[in-house]
Amino acid sequence: MASHDLEEKVIALYGEDKWKEIINLKNVKDTFEKYRLLWVWPSLDDLQWIKDIIDGLQLHGIISIGCGSGLLEWLIQKHSGIDVVGIEVDHAWWTCGYSPPLFLKKVIFIDEDNNNVEIPKSHALLFCYFNNAPAFLNYIMNYSGSTVLVIGPGEGRGSHTDPTPFDKKFSDLGWQLYKFREIGNTKDYIAVYTR
Ligand SMILES: C[S@@+](CC[C@H](N)C(=O)[O-])C[C@H]1O[C@@H](n2cnc3c(N)ncnc32)[C@H](O)[C@@H]1O
Repeated sequence: MASHDLEEKVIALYGEDKWKEIINLKNVKDTFEKYRLLWVWPSLDDLQWIKDIIDGLQLHGIISIGCGSGLLEWLIQKHSGIDVVGIEVDHAWWTCGYSPPLFLKKVIFIDEDNNNVEIPKSHALLFCYFNNAPAFLNYIMNYSGSTVLVIGPGEGRGSHTDPTPFDKKFSDLGWQLYKFREIGNTKDYIAVYTR
């Protein structure tokens, strides 16, 4: 499948609410266009693993910082039925005609200079392929809840995020690694921290 066809296909499936079929597209070759939609394409097992974490820790939902198109978040929401809210700064890009559409309906756009958005304690924080260390520190310092999920590259993946899933910053800030999982054989990981 050509990469521009992938976006059209995903948009069509999204319109028909066929989220499982979108997951089945995860093995399409990695291209720039694929990453425009989503950095990490989950399997059903990955989504179930995330649901088990949220249920097991008795959380009510997820606040995803830097959600981009919100496709991952929409898939999580569809699979688990939990409340998933995105927070983004780049309103200009994510609402212009050249970007992928916003798949997640609950996205709060905030001002880059004012990251002091209130995050409910009942929700986990999620950073997927987030790459803004000062903003990450600000979010985590203002979060009074007990669970943080980080998705990003492990060693040898060849991409960069800040924080990374196994970032030393977490233990420095008093968080313990609770569980982790590789997403397929991609060398991308999801790590869960609690305190
Ligand atoms: C590499 S993209 C990842 C997008 C998406 N999470 C994914 O995995 O496909 C990083 C996103 O973080 C957003 N971002 C950067 N700084 C931010 C901040 N302070 N608050 C919220 N979002 C931010 C960017 O606008 C961008 O959409």
